[in-house]
Amino acid sequence: MRKKSRTPVSDPTLHGRKEGSLALVLEKETQVFTSYTETFYSGDGNLDKHLKLKYAHSLRVLRNAREIAGEEDAFRDNPQARRALLLSALYHDLGRFEQLRRYRTFRDADSVNHGLLGARLLADPRFLVGENADGRKLTRAAVLLHNRLALPPRLPSPLDVVSKALRDADKIDIIRVLQEEFRPGRVPDKTIVLDLPDDPGKYSPKALEELLAGRTVLYSSLGSVNDFRLLLCSWVSGLEFSASRRLLARDGRLETVMESLPRNADMDRARSYVRSRLEEGK
Ligand SMILES: [Fe+2]
Repeated sequence: MRKKSRTPVSDPTLHGRKEGSLALVLEKETQVFTSYTETFYSGDGNLDKHLKLKYAHSLRVLRNAREIAGEEDAFRDNPQARRALLLSALYHDLGRFEQLRRYRTFRDADSVNHGLLGARLLADPRFLVGENADGRKLTRAAVLLHNRLALPPRLPSPLDVVSKALRDADKIDIIRVLQEEFRPGRVPDKTIVLDLPDDPGKYSPKALEELLAGRTVLYSSLGSVNDFRLLLCSWVSGLEFSASRRLLARDGRLETVMESLPRNADMDRARSYVRSRLEEGK
């Protein structure tokens, strides 16, 4: 476990001469990101609520990414990878703000690919000001790839580890956000659960089959909120780093998601499968 530090330069997870400046770069870029997102607030309560949610999510993904980078050798020994991971974590959902304002949905299929949009927006010189050409390219590529169903095979290094860690950090926080919606007695927010019907006993055998096979449940297999729960559970198999599994297990929120699935033999199988996968990170 890393210790928390008030002074970024003495953060024990920051290695080497350039890392002190990385803390400052992140502080500066967080300010730029904050100012950018503030231009979207409209006074429309529903829109503003979802914008705020994405803003807070971005900062938590950055925190998750820091934790992963602090525990995995791929980042401890590679300042360039670490820098791109943390910047892409901050900016990974940059496209969500424009998407939400224009289309009022988080469904990419009904609007735009928010990863692609974010990567395009990052070309604006107001973002990533202190990065060289390689750093900009790497960060934008990770943002572009963060929402792909699967990563392309044989990505160049260090884009491979940066993309994998970013996707892990993102998934861990999406589970947290959605878990809030699935608490007993709460009616899930329609935009957040992609307008799926919340029928308490309904689930798709296909989603269950995908989960038990160790695959990520496909968005196209979703027919109900329970399928969405199965999708979140299926992410445990897709996490790339053991630090990510540990983070997810420590967080405990996937347990809440599993507890909100129906009580029957199929769902018991799903629960035991997911618990055993979580154990693998410990
Ligand atoms: Fe995203």
